Amino acid sequence: MPDAAPVLPHRDFLDIGDFSAAETVALLALAERMRRGQYDRRPLTGKALAMLFMKSSTRTRMSFEIGAIQLGGTAHFLSPRDVQIGRGEPIADTARVLSRYVQGIMIRTFAHQDVVDLAASAGVPVINGLTDRSHPCQVLADLLTVQQHVGDARGRTVAWVGDGNNMANSWIEAAALLGFTLRLACPEGFDPDPSILDAARATGADVHLLRDPREAVSGADVVTTDVWASMGQEEEQAHRAVAFALYQVDAALMARAARHAIFLHCLPAHRGEEVTADVIDGPQSVVWDEAENRLHVQKAIMAVLMGGETL
Ligand code: CP
Ligand code: NVA
Repeated sequence: MPDAAPVLPHRDFLDIGDFSAAETVALLALAERMRRGQYDRRPLTGKALAMLFMKSSTRTRMSFEIGAIQLGGTAHFLSPRDVQIGRGEPIADTARVLSRYVQGIMIRTFAHQDVVDLAASAGVPVINGLTDRSHPCQVLADLLTVQQHVGDARGRTVAWVGDGNNMANSWIEAAALLGFTLRLACPEGFDPDPSILDAARATGADVHLLRDPREAVSGADVVTTDVWASMGQEEEQAHRAVAFALYQVDAALMARAARHAIFLHCLPAHRGEEVTADVIDGPQSVVWDEAENRLHVQKAIMAVLMGGETL
């Protein structure tokens, strides 16, 4: 048996359901205190976060890096060009080694199983910074943005328009956890992960998979979408542009939502594809607050998982 890393009690954040509903509410309250500048503790003092990025990133990288520094710690960017994973070192070995140096690991990659495998071998908390399957940190930031602009998500209706991708999957898990209505309009062949949908429905979640974006958006409090081709799907762009042609969020679609409805997009966005410029740059769009909220949510996650902050 190889000697194990000194394993301190820790927990991971790989998907929305890793925090209970009560913990998620408390985590969002902590992030809100941070957003309001009411949090001045530095629970990451002397601690380090390793950030493994197998895909590009602007927001995730910067919010974790700046967030760790603001909490008193450091963050270390690692790309496949820099680390031996790119040359075939097993992810489990990387996890064991990093756990000897750092107090947390954030990873963005393709296969979700790689994150599960990393977490299984790591002796420190692992945070999912996006996989092909889910993007839980982003959906927590979106929930903070909903709270900021609309109020408590419970009892509200969120409309997802477009690809049944990693973001859609995490929204489904959030609807099941927190008890809001989620209507997804996805073209046939681009549905969310059926196991995630089934699991949510088994808990009685109010989640509806539709084909017509107008039906999904009707009276909704929140309208949200994402790119038609996610990272790793670039070669499918042309074929997807045809399949998603009727799934653009434009002013006519927004007009079907509630008058107070907000527009969310995790970014990066392609104006003229999944959303028109007048919507994303218009009065109902809160995408810049949403991007800012990545910082507050990331800090709350790190403070809890790495810094001993309690929920
Ligand atoms: N929304 C999001 O995760 O953005 P990045 O890809 O820039 O990190
Ligand atoms: N669905 C997008 C989200 C980017 C933040 C992707 O995976 O590329």
